[in-house]
Amino acid sequence: MSTRSPTILSVDPTNPQPDAIAEAARVLAAGGLVAFPTETVYGLGARALDRTAVARVFQAKQRPRAHPLILHLSHPEQARAYARAWSAEAERLAEAFWPGPLTLVVDRTGAVPDTVTGGGATVALRVPAHPIARALVAAVGEPIAAPSANRYQTVTATTAAHVLKSLGADVDLILDGGACPGGIESTVIDVRAARARLLRPGGVDLAALRRVAADIDVEAPAPVLETDAVRPSPGMDAKHYAPRARVVLAGTRRDAEREALARRTEGAVTALVTRGEPAEDVVTAGLALHVLPDEPRGYGRALFATLHACDDAGADVIVVEAPPADEAWLAVRDRLRRAGS
Ligand code: TXA
Ligand code: MG
Repeated sequence: MSTRSPTILSVDPTNPQPDAIAEAARVLAAGGLVAFPTETVYGLGARALDRTAVARVFQAKQRPRAHPLILHLSHPEQARAYARAWSAEAERLAEAFWPGPLTLVVDRTGAVPDTVTGGGATVALRVPAHPIARALVAAVGEPIAAPSANRYQTVTATTAAHVLKSLGADVDLILDGGACPGGIESTVIDVRAARARLLRPGGVDLAALRRVAADIDVEAPAPVLETDAVRPSPGMDAKHYAPRARVVLAGTRRDAEREALARRTEGAVTALVTRGEPAEDVVTAGLALHVLPDEPRGYGRALFATLHACDDAGADVIVVEAPPADEAWLAVRDRLRRAGS
């Protein structure tokens, strides 16, 4: 681990400067780690075929080796080299959503190093849509293994500043392309069986998936498993995405307001996150107020940045007005539930 600070290059998110991409590709080729924006969140990338570099990703994140990484590809056709079987359902989903925020879990070929998959027989594949991510994977000419660019079990990074705060000198280069447009990680789907199975709700919502997939197995809510032994996707850890502050979910806006006021009265530095303007007594009570959009995309885009902001402001408690129960809010609810557990 070096004590130097990472190099940060500012990059145009729509039209990335070729010299910045070439520099990042050089760092990756030399076995370094590069954080880069995707359409979902920032990734912490290493050359996937470089075992030593991939091992450094786990070390930098302080993530257990058994938690597999996603392979980021430049083109859907590349998937065939890493997937032992490619079902009709996989083909339909890739065709509809790649490039984009969908990750497909398939049986892997021998071309995928054990370090990437944690020794497992499957691999997660995704073709990102963000121009910086696409340019970088294309420049490297090989897949990039990248988890989200935050330390294990802490809040996901959606800006370069979040990456720097979380990983510091453990990343060699950060491509700063501004805030990620999606703000929530990709949807992860297991497409090994005839019936596709949702492993993690994310950037592609269920309504969109259902328009394409023949059938999707959604255990609602997605199971939160407590042990290492039987977890179908390691991201299903109960504790995940957790800020330093305690997150408390409250049923209605008024419940959330009352809870926040009570915490404030007890002397806790309290943040309140709602989906609409709070009542007058709350506005004047000295709480940190965060009013997020009342629709799932806008809310998802702002969620992790809001949790980071609450932590940065020294909040002890973050009281959140629970999101609606309907399916469109599944990914948001999932992240909030884990942040609070
Ligand atoms: O949007 C995203 O997916 C971001 C960007 C950087 O691409 N990446 C990301 O990576 O969120 P990470 O490592 O933080 O989360 C990957 C998720 C985890 O829930 C992991 O358990 C699951 O994908 N996963 C990876 N490989 C898997 C596999 N072979 N089988 C089942 N789940 C897998
Ligand atoms: Mg993550």
